[in-house]
Amino acid sequence: MGDISLLKLTALILIPVNLACFRLALSATLQSDVDNLRQLQQIWPTAPLDWHGDDPCGLRWRGVGCTAQTKYSVVTELSLSGMINGTLPSLIGNLVNLQYLELSYNDFQGGIPTDLGKLANLQFLSLQVCGLTGSIPSELGNLSKLEFLALNGNQLIGGIPHTLGYLQVLYWLDFSENLLSGPLPVSTRNDAHVGLDNLTSLLHFHMNNNSLSGAIPVEIQSLKLVHLFLDSNSFSGRIPPEIGNLSALQYLRLDYNYLLGEIPSSISNITTLQELHLNDNGLTSHIPDLSALSNLQFLDLSSNNFSPERVPAWFSNISQIRTLIAENCSLIGPVPPDIFRLPNLEAVLLRANGLNGTLQFPTQNISSQLIMVSLEWNNITSINQVPYTPNFKYLLEGNPVCNNIFNTSDVCNTQATDMTMTWKSPTIPSCTLRSCEQTKTLNPLLCTCVYPFTCTIQFHSPPFYSLDDSKITALGTALWSHLSLNSTQVWVESANITDKHRLKVNVLFFPAGNAASLNYDEESYIMAQMHSPRLLISDFGPYLLIHINRPLGPTDNCAFANNSTCLSTKRRLLIPILLPALTVAVMLLVLISWWYWRLRRPSVSVNVINCEVPVRFTYKQLSAATKKFSEKLGAGGFGTVYKGMLSDGTLIAVKQLERSGQGDKEFHTEVATVGSIHHVNLVRLYGFCSEGSRRLLVYEYLSGSLEKYIFNGRKHGLFLDWKTRFNIATDAARGISYLHEGCRKRIIHCDIKPQNILLTHDFSAKVSDFGMAKLMDRAESHVITNVRGTRGYLAPEWLMDDAPISEKCDVYSFGMLLLELAGGRKNYDFSASSSKLYFPDWVLNQITDGNIIECIDDRVGSEADIKEVKSLIYVALWCIQEEAHLRPSMGKVLQMLEGSIPIPDPPHSLTKQSSDTSSMLTSSGNSE
Ligand SMILES: *[C@@H]1O[C@H](CO)[C@@H](O)[C@H](O)[C@H]1NC(C)=O
Ligand SMILES: *[C@@H]1O[C@H](CO)[C@@H](O)[C@H](O)[C@H]1NC(C)=O
Ligand SMILES: *[C@@H]1O[C@H](CO)[C@@H](O)[C@H](O)[C@H]1NC(C)=O
Ligand SMILES: *[C@@H]1O[C@H](CO)[C@@H](O)[C@H](O)[C@H]1NC(C)=O
Ligand SMILES: *[C@@H]1O[C@H](CO)[C@@H](O)[C@H](O)[C@H]1NC(C)=O
Ligand SMILES: *[C@@H]1O[C@H](CO)[C@@H](O)[C@H](O)[C@H]1NC(C)=O
Repeated sequence: MGDISLLKLTALILIPVNLACFRLALSATLQSDVDNLRQLQQIWPTAPLDWHGDDPCGLRWRGVGCTAQTKYSVVTELSLSGMINGTLPSLIGNLVNLQYLELSYNDFQGGIPTDLGKLANLQFLSLQVCGLTGSIPSELGNLSKLEFLALNGNQLIGGIPHTLGYLQVLYWLDFSENLLSGPLPVSTRNDAHVGLDNLTSLLHFHMNNNSLSGAIPVEIQSLKLVHLFLDSNSFSGRIPPEIGNLSALQYLRLDYNYLLGEIPSSISNITTLQELHLNDNGLTSHIPDLSALSNLQFLDLSSNNFSPERVPAWFSNISQIRTLIAENCSLIGPVPPDIFRLPNLEAVLLRANGLNGTLQFPTQNISSQLIMVSLEWNNITSINQVPYTPNFKYLLEGNPVCNNIFNTSDVCNTQATDMTMTWKSPTIPSCTLRSCEQTKTLNPLLCTCVYPFTCTIQFHSPPFYSLDDSKITALGTALWSHLSLNSTQVWVESANITDKHRLKVNVLFFPAGNAASLNYDEESYIMAQMHSPRLLISDFGPYLLIHINRPLGPTDNCAFANNSTCLSTKRRLLIPILLPALTVAVMLLVLISWWYWRLRRPSVSVNVINCEVPVRFTYKQLSAATKKFSEKLGAGGFGTVYKGMLSDGTLIAVKQLERSGQGDKEFHTEVATVGSIHHVNLVRLYGFCSEGSRRLLVYEYLSGSLEKYIFNGRKHGLFLDWKTRFNIATDAARGISYLHEGCRKRIIHCDIKPQNILLTHDFSAKVSDFGMAKLMDRAESHVITNVRGTRGYLAPEWLMDDAPISEKCDVYSFGMLLLELAGGRKNYDFSASSSKLYFPDWVLNQITDGNIIECIDDRVGSEADIKEVKSLIYVALWCIQEEAHLRPSMGKVLQMLEGSIPIPDPPHSLTKQSSDTSSMLTSSGNSE
C-alpha cells in the first residue's frame, strides 16, 4: 500500500470534479459569456447552480458546455432542466454562441422572450412543459440553424408565426398541448411570405391538443413527414387528397377535429402508414378500401357520419392490423367471421352500429392474439362457436341476444369486464420491507430505500388497445436496455391509456448498486435519451417525456466518499447545512478507510473499483498486479499497455503514459472526469496512479481488438460474420455518440481506429482510449495524434493548423473505420491493384456502377443482408466527406445505422464540388 498521503487522498475526493465529457478547452471563457451566466445565476436564485469562479468553461460549471476558439472558450450549451423557478429572461439572447439550449421541465412565469431570435447559432431549442404563457415570437424564424424546436406542454396562445418557414434544417417541430389558435400558415403564391410548407427537412410535426383551425392545407404535401399529429384541434374542411403524397408517413392522427367530406382514397398510397386515427370528425360517404396499407397496425374510424353500409370486406385483408375500431359508424349486416382470422388482431371494437344476425367465429385459424371483441349496442340475435383462448373476452351488452340466455353472464355486462386501461405495479411479495422513511421510495427490485428520478412518458399512439403485464414488462426491459442501465434500475410504476388513446407511463429510475440517488449527470443522461427522438421503443411507438421529478435528497454514488459533485446536485437548502457536516464525515471515512487499507488490505479490491470516482493505485500495487509489467498488450503514441490482475481476480489493462506534461492535481481532475464516464460501449477507466513523474491508467481488460479480427483475421483464422460486423458498427457508434452527445460536455475522441475498438467475449464493441487529449496537454496530444495517426483515419482538417477541431473529426475517422470493417482490409493497401489501392475511391466507383456487394469482404459474401450493407457503406461515405459540415453528427450516424431515419444517397465524390443537397445531414459540430 505504501505511501498514500492522507492529504492527497482527501484533496482528490474534494476536488470539484464536474462529471462528463470535456472539450479541448484550456483557454479562459469569453468575458461577456461569463457576465451573462452570472446574471442568469442572479435571476434564478432557487436553482442549485454551483457556479463559482470566473471561468465557466475551465471550471466546468454545471449545465454549461463550451467550445474552444483560438483565444477563448465560448459557451455553446446550456442545459438546465427541472430545477428553475422564475422567468426566462431576454438576456439569454446575449449568449450568442449557444448551439444547444435545453430548459425543459422548469417552472417559468411569463413568456418566451423575442431575444431568443438573436441566437443565430442555435441548433436545438427545447422548452417543454415549462408553464410558458404568451405567444410564440416570430423572431424564432431567425434561427436558421435550428434543427429541433419543442415548445410543447405550455400555455402558449396566439397563432403559429409563418416566419418559422425559414427554418430550413428543422426536422422536429412540437407545439402540442398548448392553447394555440388560427390556421397552419403556408407560403403565399406571390412569395410575400414563407410558411410551414417551406420546412423541407421536417420529419416530425406535432400540433395536437391545441385550438388550431381552418383547413388542413394541401401544401402539406411538400413535407417529408414521418409523424403528423393534428388531433384534438378545430380543423375543418376536407382532408386534402394530396395527403397521399406524404410517402414516408408512419403515424397520422387527425382525430377529434371537425373534418368533413370523404376520406381520400389516396391515403391507401401511404404504404408506410402504421397508425391511422380518423375518428371523431364529421367524415361522410363511404369508407375507401385501405387494405393496401400493409403496415397498418391501428385503425380508428369511429364516430363519423358515414352512410350505412355492411362491414367492408377489406377489413379482413389489413394484414398487420392489431387494433381495429369502427364504433358508431352505421355499419349494418353480420360481422364477417374472416376478421377474426387476421393473424395479429388483438382487439376489434364495433360498438353502437346496426350489426345484426348471428355472431359467428371461425372454427379455425382464429388470431392467437385476440383478446377483445366488443360489440355492444348492436342488433345481434344469436351466437355460435365461442372460441376458447385464455385471455379472450367478448362483449354483447345491449344486443337482443342478451335478452335471453346470456342475460346474467359477464358477456352481457360490460361493467363487470375488466378492460385494463389503467395499470398499477403489483407489490413485490419477496420484499419484506414495505415502506421507507418519508422522503425515500422503495426500489422493489432490490428492496432498498432510495431517491428515484421520476419521469412520465406519454406515448402518442400505442398500437394496442389495452394494457397487460407482459406489455409493461417489455417496456421496462426496453427502457433499461436502450439506456444501458442495470435491470434493477428501472421500475414502471403505473400506466394508463387515456380516452383519446395516448398512453401515460410513470417510470422510476433508481440509482445503481447501493447509491442513494442518481447524480446530476446520470439524470441528465436519462433525460437526454428519453426526450431525444432517437430512442424508439418498439411496439409502443413515438412518445414524449412530459414530466420529470428530480429527487430531493443527498446524492451518494461512491462506495466510500461523497465528492462535491454528488453534493452540488442537491437542493439548495441542504447544501449549507450538509456541506460542513459531510466534509467532516468524508474526512473521517477517508481516515477510516485509509487505516482499514493499511491494516488489512494488501491490495485494492473490487468494492473500491465500483466507486464512481476512479481509484488511486500505488505504483507498487500496479507493479505487483502486472508482474512487474511483464505482459505487454500493445504500445501506442501515448504509452505502453500491460495486462494485469488485481488480488480479487479482476483482469485489468494498465497503460503507462510516456509523458503527460501535467501536474499531479491536474491529472487527478482529468482522471476523475474521464473515469466518471460510463457507457456500455465505452471501456471503463477503473483508476490511476500518479507518483513523481509516473502516470498510469488502469482500465477494464478486454481481450480482442477489432484490428486483430479485420486485418489479421486471415492469418489467425479469425473471422467476423456480417451480422457481427454490423453490430460492432452500431455499438461503436453508440459509444462515440455518447461521448459527443450523451453528456453535457462533449468529448472528442481524436483517435478512432480499429485498434481502439475492443471486443468482449460475445463480440459487443467498446470504444477505448477516449479522453486521452484530456490527460495529455493539448499541444502534445495534437502532435502525437498527428504523428501516430495513420493518414487513413485523420480528418483533413487535423492537418491544417487553424481549422477548428470538432466532433466531425471523429465522424470522419469512424467512416474510415466502417469501410475497413465492411471491406475487411485497410483503406490504403499497397499490395492491392492500383484501382483498389485507396479503398474509399474504389467503393465510390462500385456504388456508381451499382456493385455495392463488391465493397464487402469476400469472406462475408452472400450471407450479408444487402440492406445493411447499403446502410453501412452509405453512412461511411457521408462520414468521410472532406467538408466537415457535410458529415452527419454521430447521433444521426447512429440513427441511420439503426434504420430510424432514412439515408440519402451519398454524393458522388468525397471532395468539395459535391456539396449538394444535404441539408438534412448538416448538423451540429462546426464551431466557427
Ligand atoms: C415558484 O415561485 C413562485 C413565486 O415565487 C411560488 O409561488 C411557487 O410556489 C414556486 N414554485 C415552486 C415549484 O417552487
Ligand atoms: C417557400 O415555398 C414556396 C412554395 O413551395 C416557394 O415558392 C418559396 O420560394 C419558398 N420560399 C423560400 C424562402 O424557400
Ligand atoms: C397512388 O399513386 C399512384 C402512383 O403514384 C397514382 O397513380 C394513383 O393515382 C394514386 N392513387 C390515389 C388514389 O391517389
Ligand atoms: C335493431 O333491429 C330492429 C328491428 O329490426 C330495429 O328496429 C332497430 O332500430 C335496430 N337497432 C339498431 C341499433 O340498429
Ligand atoms: C340485418 O339488417 C339489414 C339492414 O338493416 C336487414 O336488411 C337484414 O334483413 C337484417 N338481417 C337479419 C338477420 O336480421
Ligand atoms: C445489476 O445490479 C445487481 C444489484 O446491484 C448486481 O448484482 C448485478 O450484477 C448488476 N448487473 C449488471 C449486468 O451489472
